[in-house]
Amino acid sequence: MSKITAAITAVGAYVPDYVLTNQILETMVDTNDEWITTRTGIKERRILKDKDKGTSYLGIKAAEDLIAKKGLDPKEIDMLIFATATPDLPVAATAAYTASKIGAVNAFSYDLQAACSSFLYAMSTAARYIESGRYKKVLVVGADKMSSIIDYTDRATCIIFGDGGGAVLFEPNEEGLGVQDEYLRTDGIGRDFLRIEAGGSLLPPTEETVANRQHFVHQDGKTVFKYAVSNMADASVKIMERNNLTNEDVNWLIAHQANKRIIDATAKRMNLTDESKVLMNIHRYGNTTSATLPLLLSDYEKKFKKGDNIVFASFGGGFTWGSMYVKWAYNS
Ligand code: UT7
Repeated sequence: MSKITAAITAVGAYVPDYVLTNQILETMVDTNDEWITTRTGIKERRILKDKDKGTSYLGIKAAEDLIAKKGLDPKEIDMLIFATATPDLPVAATAAYTASKIGAVNAFSYDLQAACSSFLYAMSTAARYIESGRYKKVLVVGADKMSSIIDYTDRATCIIFGDGGGAVLFEPNEEGLGVQDEYLRTDGIGRDFLRIEAGGSLLPPTEETVANRQHFVHQDGKTVFKYAVSNMADASVKIMERNNLTNEDVNWLIAHQANKRIIDATAKRMNLTDESKVLMNIHRYGNTTSATLPLLLSDYEKKFKKGDNIVFASFGGGFTWGSMYVKWAYNS
């Protein structure tokens, strides 16, 4: 019997309707469209305005989009991994709630948190379950309501992030398509440079932590930028070398959308001179954390051909980063 590989067989996505443009941000903090565009590549992001909706809403909508497109019976889903840095509640998995809401009544589920690398790590986890031969349909949902943890008086962070969700289905493949290799890394030094200080076990929330705005994301952007540029590029080059992939062999780079300059630097190190291979939607959505990779898959799905070589790459808080080499498994 041929080896089982884990292939992506469907994608889905959802972004909320409200568009927060650079022009609107100019009225909120001391910034301007030109600075944001040249430093990050972002023009607008989506925000989930409804006060009574959390991250699960974004994930459920994305999963429902996938289910409808694929004509999938949710009862056949064996497992659901919810990649997120903004769960609905600190305790009570967003994954379990999502699985029930979409009718995945035979699935077990859990959340996976690795900041902006959550989705890449969740793809890795899903692949192992599929490769084991025990599970046939694993749904990976990636969603974040970043607006719930962003300080809209802090111009260093509020211009970057947006809300969104995506989903991919993994199934066994016997043609050798799907996940080929991965290179995943972490470095705990990162927690000094990108974090939410309060609300966890180290500093439980108090009136004082709220007054000090310690429940919002704080980032030393310059330092994170340096680590992101070198590590995401290193990981992407490493996966190419390990698999004897030249720049010609790589059909698409699907990189975490944190900053256009970081993505450009990664593409340059990979020698991807053909810009059309470097997929981007950061200008429309900003950094949606766990949703950037599946949103790219959804936006560009029609371009992918069976057998295409895709390199995924991410970098995020923690620090967490890595790359994955996937052979695309279907024509849409
Ligand atoms: O996804 C997780 C990983 N996160 C990332 O990968 C993010 C990595 N970091 C970045 O993308 C960039 O560092 C930022 C986009 C956050 C910032 O860009 P930068 O080129 O590193 O700017 P900077 O922080 O060095 O700031 C340069 C200047 C400063 O002014 P002075 O000190 O030179 O006078 C800032 O005060 O720009 C100022 N500045 C702004 N000006 C207008 C900072 N934020 C803004 C703003 N609008 N929003």
